[in-house]
Amino acid sequence: MYEQTSHALLNRILDRLKPEFRKRDLRYFYTRLGANFYAIHSLFKQLYGQRDNFETQMVRLVEVLAQNYIERNKRYKKQDMQREQQPDWFLDQRWVGMALYANAFAGNLAGVNEKLPHLEELGVNLVHVMPILKCPPGASDGGYAVSDFRDIDERAGTLDDLRELGKALRKRNMLLTLDVVLNHTSDQHEWAQRARAGEAQYQDYYFMYPDREIPDRFEAAMPEVFPETSPGNFTWDESTGKWVMTVFNHYQWDLNYRNPAVLIEMLDIILFWANQGADVLRLDAVAFLWKNIGTACQNEREAHVILQLLKDCCQVTAPGVLFIAEAIVAPVEINKYFGEDAVIAKECEIAYNATLMALLWDAVATRNAKLLNEGIQNLPAKLDGATWLNYVRCHDDIGLGFDDADIECAGYDPRSHRSFLVDWFTGAHDVSPARGRPFGKNERTGDARIAGSLASLAGLEAALEYGDNDEIHRRIRLVLTLHGIILSFGGIPLLYYGDEVGTLNDYGFLEDATKAGDSRWLHRPTLDWQQVMRRNARNSPEQRIFDGLGHMIEVRKQTPAFADFNNRELLRCSNPHLFLYLRSALSDEHSPVLVAANFDAEAQQLSLADLDTPAWLANEGARELLSKRVIEPGQGHLDIPAFGLLWLARPG
Ligand code: GLC
Repeated sequence: MYEQTSHALLNRILDRLKPEFRKRDLRYFYTRLGANFYAIHSLFKQLYGQRDNFETQMVRLVEVLAQNYIERNKRYKKQDMQREQQPDWFLDQRWVGMALYANAFAGNLAGVNEKLPHLEELGVNLVHVMPILKCPPGASDGGYAVSDFRDIDERAGTLDDLRELGKALRKRNMLLTLDVVLNHTSDQHEWAQRARAGEAQYQDYYFMYPDREIPDRFEAAMPEVFPETSPGNFTWDESTGKWVMTVFNHYQWDLNYRNPAVLIEMLDIILFWANQGADVLRLDAVAFLWKNIGTACQNEREAHVILQLLKDCCQVTAPGVLFIAEAIVAPVEINKYFGEDAVIAKECEIAYNATLMALLWDAVATRNAKLLNEGIQNLPAKLDGATWLNYVRCHDDIGLGFDDADIECAGYDPRSHRSFLVDWFTGAHDVSPARGRPFGKNERTGDARIAGSLASLAGLEAALEYGDNDEIHRRIRLVLTLHGIILSFGGIPLLYYGDEVGTLNDYGFLEDATKAGDSRWLHRPTLDWQQVMRRNARNSPEQRIFDGLGHMIEVRKQTPAFADFNNRELLRCSNPHLFLYLRSALSDEHSPVLVAANFDAEAQQLSLADLDTPAWLANEGARELLSKRVIEPGQGHLDIPAFGLLWLARPG
């Protein structure tokens, strides 16, 4: 958009740019900068307009954009232009992701490279390599306490190893996702060290206070993220004699985005990793980016302004790169991370669907879809040009952030329902086969979350222990059904490493003092490849899960109705154990698909008289896509096995 003030400023900035920029061919850069500059200027002004050095900071920002554009490799520039031609490329059903720790999955980055055939065989073509940047030895929150944003931790490998991995992924048409930890640094980061040494410039990068006055005012409204291991939101720093804001662990110092230098540094880092070949950047903990006294310091309006600004800037330099919002927030808040536009994502193109994840676990514990139906019905519709990252498990805990109103509509009392769920998954409930542990128990508020591997939470660990074959079979089916939902729901499914072979809890973390206090390590296993390779042994649980999953992935990729074009309709029926939705077809050549999942441990019937849509099911019958079974027309009901899943397409 053309607007005089920002345009005049842009011309002044271009005049002030370093002479070396003027010698370069920056044609595409300038067209995109011109298109986004009005937005960039007004967003930057909202945050920093009061500062005396506003214009100097704007010049610096544009220099960072130009410098990174110059450094961007030709191949990625070409890819940016190709993606511009087809901006909804990531909504396609062909994408299937997996998140993994390089070390725990395969020793290091070079090991991941060697294991790509395993991922390819499964059908995974988007690899989220979890944090690999330099972090201190000992506790580092699983790599989320970064001490150098531009270097790879030697335990994971080198920048060259990452480049090799990027190359190998591209050859196989696979995408690379990397983390950028925007909210905080390790206390060992150079900026923190210089702040500690008394440099005012770097103390301004953080929130540091000589006494408790401001910290206490913040604390009054801030919840605690890690109440057991890191209570409170401030840590006393002996060397400066100051309280430092540390919302997560005491060694993770929160960055202060009220300082424009911080925003520009982090933008530079985002573009650096885009230039290392990342197709997608997972922006960590984005809900926390801005802090206002008197608020929970999450989901603040300014956090969204920062994300819009980062997106607008990234579009100028590396427009083909997507952002994932890691915002594990209430359903009413999550959509805002796509940005407030009618169609396209103005903040992040992809957001973690923590709502679906937690609701799926509710359905597992209650064996019914009552709350799942309420929650999904009230999940606000996403933008056309954005999509969900759907997952069952990830490296973090399961938080029970459902809406109280939804819990009540499902017929439960919110407080006692949440404590039932924690009890169910952590072994305090007599009849539960789940083997999880509590995480983040807050004695003051009574809140708790849940840790544990997918297979152990789904009851496979207990079934294997009892050696009960029928039960093992049922629990494997549950593992597959949960995956079958994220594969058909609409969005990019993100598997979690190890779950493809039903990896159980890893209790080894209890022996390591730097991990023992954080039960999330229960589900961050070091893969035992001998066990993984049992996927080749006929009828082993590993084989049944791996092949079942591989088959579902293959069918997903051939089913256009599973692409994400806002084509999902939730269907209700009178059987509370069933979860149903229809994925409508995008064109006449393709079939719509009815997804039906049974959360009960007994087989259930879906009465067709119950459903007015889709009419074809009763009139024409169906093809079940996974088993290829043909369902004749005119049946009164369909049988769905215990924990079973059907993908029903129109015959023909
Ligand atoms: C994100 C990560 C989590 C980490 C936190 C702080 O939520 O997923 O593992 O503890 O950020 O960096």
